[in-house]
Amino acid sequence: MRNNMFRRLPVEQATGRLYGGRHRLRVVYRTRDLIVLGLGVMIGSGIFKISGEQAATTAGPSVIISFLIAGGVCLLAALSYAELSSIVPVAGSAYSFSYVAFGEIWAWVVGWALVLELLLAASVVARAWSLYATQALADFAVPVPSWLAGIIGQEKGFDLFAFGILVLLITMLATGSRLSLRSLWFMVMAKLIVIGLVVATGLKFFHAGNLTPFVPPERPAPDGATTVLDAVLGAVTGSKPGVFGIWGIFAAAPAIAFAYIGFDLIATASEETDDAPRKVPRGMLTSLAIAVVLYVAVAVAMVGMVSTDRLDPAKPLLATAFGLVGADSMGKIIDVGAVLALTTVILVVLISLTRVVFSMSRDGLLPRPIAGMSRYRVPSRATLVAGGAAVVMSQTINVLTLEQMVVIGTLFAFLFVSAAVLALRRDRPDLHRPFRVPAAPVTAAATILATGWLMLNLKVQTWGYFAVWMAVGIVIYLAYGRRKSQMKLLLDAPPPERPAAARTQAPPPGVAPFDGSFAGPGQGGGFPVPPPGSYGAGPRPNVPAPESPYPTGRYSVGRRPSGPYDREPYDREPPADPYALDPGVPNPFASGPHPGGRYSAEQFGSNPYEGGRYGTGPHTRDPYVQDPYVEKPYVQEPSVQEPYEDGEREEPPYPGGRHRR
Ligand code: ALA
Repeated sequence: MRNNMFRRLPVEQATGRLYGGRHRLRVVYRTRDLIVLGLGVMIGSGIFKISGEQAATTAGPSVIISFLIAGGVCLLAALSYAELSSIVPVAGSAYSFSYVAFGEIWAWVVGWALVLELLLAASVVARAWSLYATQALADFAVPVPSWLAGIIGQEKGFDLFAFGILVLLITMLATGSRLSLRSLWFMVMAKLIVIGLVVATGLKFFHAGNLTPFVPPERPAPDGATTVLDAVLGAVTGSKPGVFGIWGIFAAAPAIAFAYIGFDLIATASEETDDAPRKVPRGMLTSLAIAVVLYVAVAVAMVGMVSTDRLDPAKPLLATAFGLVGADSMGKIIDVGAVLALTTVILVVLISLTRVVFSMSRDGLLPRPIAGMSRYRVPSRATLVAGGAAVVMSQTINVLTLEQMVVIGTLFAFLFVSAAVLALRRDRPDLHRPFRVPAAPVTAAATILATGWLMLNLKVQTWGYFAVWMAVGIVIYLAYGRRKSQMKLLLDAPPPERPAAARTQAPPPGVAPFDGSFAGPGQGGGFPVPPPGSYGAGPRPNVPAPESPYPTGRYSVGRRPSGPYDREPYDREPPADPYALDPGVPNPFASGPHPGGRYSAEQFGSNPYEGGRYGTGPHTRDPYVQDPYVEKPYVQEPSVQEPYEDGEREEPPYPGGRHRR
């Protein structure tokens, strides 16, 4: 028997959840929300804090090139994320892509790396938030009682501000994301204004002499700053690790990559996005392109304003630089801007963290009850579990020294995502790809090499910690996920009796017409193909082919007979053109009924089968979602109950919805 750790999640199964899974998220995002989401998470401590640190300690004025290198690698990776998001628009992002392309153990490994990235990012940024918030209080001479002074703005140990901001945002998220989306818009706009002011004011003080020497001469690296590349070169050539010089540019790039982290997180919002296969790639690439431009502008303004020799890396450098040129008020604006900026970073990181944990739990690799959703269709339990872990981590570990761990987790995922593009192009050329990586083989290979190069420029210590984290993850998988995986249940379950009636329906968006086989060309199986005559690839003598993929007269008027799917949200609607843009894009902020877009929130919240909108014939099940053979382990598992399933459900989140009890 094939080693079941490598069982793959069929694309059809992954995307099928979107269109009928009970564990499905509420649709709230439009393209512009995704761009805001991306900017919300990207513009944070990377630009306000780390850029200055790297200029002062590693690269000098050539940190501008480091920004371009890191941005270029991220843009390459973003192309791969965009293609895969257009095929598998589900909440797990790189985790789900790896499940589909490489199999379960790899998915777990990538998911576990994402959990590291996001848990640590939330903790690190919460700590940085506390530093900036404390500084902002000092800037405006707000009196702070002495008992409070010792527990705010701390780099390690208990910190009330870091604790408070995490708890506040977790509570917001656990009670429904509409409020958080509104807040996000407001805060992102505010920080864009601050970034604009930084660039405009910085350029006023620009002095070309500050850019020389553009590449400062190399110096010995301080203890603990040895990168893997330094160690390898040292072992081979006997050279000593250094900072600045040409290598300093490359050594700063992975640290700078921290500033770009976030575009990848947009993919985790796929399940909550209207027309995700098109909008997620668009939102991701647009927000990253904007971030690259803004960051390079800030870097130019920063290093053009003061000589990097004059910067003290122990202080918040962007604000300090303005202080050095006499623009003290800009320092205050930056501190306030950083508080807002870091708030949105934590918010979006927490959103993504919970979506990844939600996906892993839904697949059974983490306990399934964590994937339960609240009546607002938000993964409240995953939010509380993952958020709780972030709170504990932020208060117990000296996370501010672990920023590179966030980067290594992210870059690790980049490797898998770009390799997954190649694997799926080979194994599933049939899949519909609304977004395609240009010159995929070359681009994906270049992404893998560039990402690997950045990883080699991370510290040896970072690699050591990462190895320990991954080893712990593999033990957890072997002890738990491998046995509890929903794919395992699916593969172990005997195929149920097929009813005689034919069931044919068009596939959900993102999926090529179903040929009855989950094994794509070259995929080599790994997923059971039902025998001909059930719904296999072979001839189906009793199955009349439909004339149209969406024949009329197949959906009953009135209520469906009661049965195992009774409490499913009957809210899928086979679209005529799954990717056509809908003029009726819902406004998630509106309080009244939403216009009925094809994937509009109203539609997702209603039951089209009840209203007789699709004809008068008997109800037909969706072969991808409704079929008991496919669906059971994911949706019908009796041990997993919606927390608000029975009688507790109140009004649907969107007034147009018609949830049945
Ligand atoms: N890109 C995010 C930041 O810079 C993680 O804070």
